[in-house]
Amino acid sequence: MREDGRQGDAAEGLSELRAQPAAGPSPRPIGNSRQVSHGLPAAAGIGLRAPHVRHVRSERPGIAWLEVHSENYFADGGPALRALEELRADYPLSLHGVGMSLGSVDPVDKAHLAKLKRLADRVEPVLVSEHLCWSAVGGRHFNDLLPLPYTEEALAHVIAHIGTIQDALGRRLLVENVSTYLNFAASTIPEWEFVAAVAEESGCALLLDINNIYVNAANHGFDADAYLAAIPAEAIAEIHLAGFDASGTLLIDTHGAPVAAAVWALYERAIGRFGPRPTLIEWDIDIPAFDVLQREAATAQSILDRHDGFVR
Ligand SMILES: [Fe+2]
Repeated sequence: MREDGRQGDAAEGLSELRAQPAAGPSPRPIGNSRQVSHGLPAAAGIGLRAPHVRHVRSERPGIAWLEVHSENYFADGGPALRALEELRADYPLSLHGVGMSLGSVDPVDKAHLAKLKRLADRVEPVLVSEHLCWSAVGGRHFNDLLPLPYTEEALAHVIAHIGTIQDALGRRLLVENVSTYLNFAASTIPEWEFVAAVAEESGCALLLDINNIYVNAANHGFDADAYLAAIPAEAIAEIHLAGFDASGTLLIDTHGAPVAAAVWALYERAIGRFGPRPTLIEWDIDIPAFDVLQREAATAQSILDRHDGFVR
């Protein structure tokens, strides 16, 4: 750890960006699932939410990288976008979308995609991610990341949509596994095989959400470690961690609590299996003080540091 509190890799990434603030990342190659997209430092980042923007702008805390929700910055200007452009000069940035609806039976929403491309061209994020779900149909949008049936038909459909999006963006997309609360009787493919096939057949990278794997394993009764074993390490470009609610009969992925001890343990096993990866702390409801997020990020960083000499 350096005096400024940043880890070596992260600080080096920052100094590169400071030296060349106008130079964005190279477009990611498309169509080669064996090529790893490691544009972010393999260090702990924080999901930047509105209550903390003022603090981060004024204090420039020692964080390896930031992630924001893409749709919050689709406006053509305004103070939020200006703040993001300013922070982008000092922090590696990842754009995380919640509205592309990869699995919808509708065609890819070209207007939504154009807004995402305009934002990506403007702020030059290191990574761009979306969710393996659907959230709109017939032009009607829902505020949920809804589950897909895991079938060959759905797989082909999602792969086609990812191809359209990657071609339009001119970069490799990251796709995130989601938490779910039901199984479709029509599903014929285990979730972990579906996720792996999406990456291998579309050429996208994976944003592996360890909390979502834990939640789904508990809700659906599968082995989270068997899930990890099925995921191709070279496809994983980012990891998410968040907290869940356990007050009901199902675990609910709320993003409103600290990362659970069992999820930290699963994360450590994942890093032991895959090697260090950029890891994000997500917290979206009941958002705590920023130093709480920093402590969660420090815990993730300590696990990453324990696997610093990882060799496959
Ligand atoms: Fe996530």
